[in-house]
Amino acid sequence: MYLCPTMTEHDFLSKPYTNTLEKGQVTWQSPSNIALVKYWGKYGEQLPKNTSISFTLSNCFTKTTLFYEPKTSSDFEFEVYLDGQREAGFEPKILKFFQRIEHYIPFLKEYRFRIGTTNSFPHSSGIASSASGMSALALCLIAMEQQLNPSITTDYFNQKASFLARLGSGSACRSVEGPLIVWGEHASIPGSSHLFGTKYPFGVHKNFDNYQDTILLVDKGEKQVSSTVGHELMHKHPFAEERFAQANSNMEKLIPVLREGNLDAFIKIVESEALSLHAMMMTSMPYFILMKPNTLEIINRIWKYRNETGSKVCFTLDAGANVHILYPEGEKTQVYDFIKKELVVYCQNSQYICDQIGKGAKKL
Ligand code: DP6
Repeated sequence: MYLCPTMTEHDFLSKPYTNTLEKGQVTWQSPSNIALVKYWGKYGEQLPKNTSISFTLSNCFTKTTLFYEPKTSSDFEFEVYLDGQREAGFEPKILKFFQRIEHYIPFLKEYRFRIGTTNSFPHSSGIASSASGMSALALCLIAMEQQLNPSITTDYFNQKASFLARLGSGSACRSVEGPLIVWGEHASIPGSSHLFGTKYPFGVHKNFDNYQDTILLVDKGEKQVSSTVGHELMHKHPFAEERFAQANSNMEKLIPVLREGNLDAFIKIVESEALSLHAMMMTSMPYFILMKPNTLEIINRIWKYRNETGSKVCFTLDAGANVHILYPEGEKTQVYDFIKKELVVYCQNSQYICDQIGKGAKKL
C-alpha cells in the first residue's frame, strides 16, 4: 500500500523563484463556510484542538483584488480598502497576518500592496467575514507566488492557500475548496491535517446535494467577545478536553450519516454541536453569552415546526447570535414559507440571506 507522506510546515516554504514580477494585480473571490462540527480551541500557530468540518457556502463571499508594485524599502507597505474606501481599522489584523506568513511568502516586503476588498453580504450583517476575507487574500498571495514559480501544481496551490488562510483565521482554511471541507487530523479521515483544510474524501448521499443555508440576521451589532478571545478561554476551560473529544467523536459519527443520507441523525449532530459550542462560551471564565432572546425564539420555532411537519430543517450557530437554517433542497419552497411567516419577525430589520452549499473560491 502506498501511503501519502504527511505534509509538514517545511513543505510550505517557497522554492527559489524562476520568474520576476512587475507591477500588476490579481483578483480572487472566496466564500464563507458554516461548520457542522465546530472548531473552538487552538494551540501553537493556529492549530486546532479538534477536527472540524464545514459546508462551503456560495452566495456569501469576499472579492479581493491585490494590487502590487515592486519597492525597495525593507518594511511591509500596504493599504486596505473596503468598497473603495480606506479601512485602516483592518490593517493591524493584516499586518499580523503578513508577519505570520512572511516565512512562507518571502516576497511580502518586496512589494507595495493595495488590498481592495468587497463582501457580497452587508458589512454590518454580523456575518464573520474573516473566513472569506482571509482566504481571498491568501489566494491572491499564492497566485502571485505561482507567477514567480510556475511549477506550482493545483493541489499544492490549494493546500498552500488553505495553509496561509489558516494563519490569518482558523476557519478560513476551510473556504478555499468545497463542498465539504475537513480541518484537523482525524484517524478516520485520510489526508486530514492540522495545517490546512482538505476535501471530505468519502461518499456523500444525494440528500445533501445543494443543501440550503438561510442565514437569519438576528443581531448585527459588534460581538461582545471576539472569536480570538473565545478560543483563548478554552485553555483553562474545565470541560475543554471533553469538548475536544466530543467534536472528534461527532466527526466520526457524521461519516455514515453523510454516506447514508440519514437526515435525522444529521440534525442531532449538527444542533448538538451548535449548542455545545455556545455551552463552552457560557461555561468559560469569564463567561459570556452570544445568543440573543431571538436566537432562542427561532430555535424553538424550528423545533416546533419540525415536530408538526416532519421537516428535516435544522439550525446551527457560529460565534454570534445569527442563526443558520440548514435544509434539503427539496424543502426549499416550504421552508422559505415558514421563514417568511414565522421567523422573519425575529430578524433585525427583517433581514436574512439565502445561501447554499458551494464549490469554493475562484479566480476572477
Ligand atoms: C465558531 O476562525 O473566527 O465559527 O482562528 O481566531 O480567527 P480564529 O477564529 P475563527 O473561529 C471560528 C469558530 C466558529 C466555528 C467554526 O467555524 O468551526
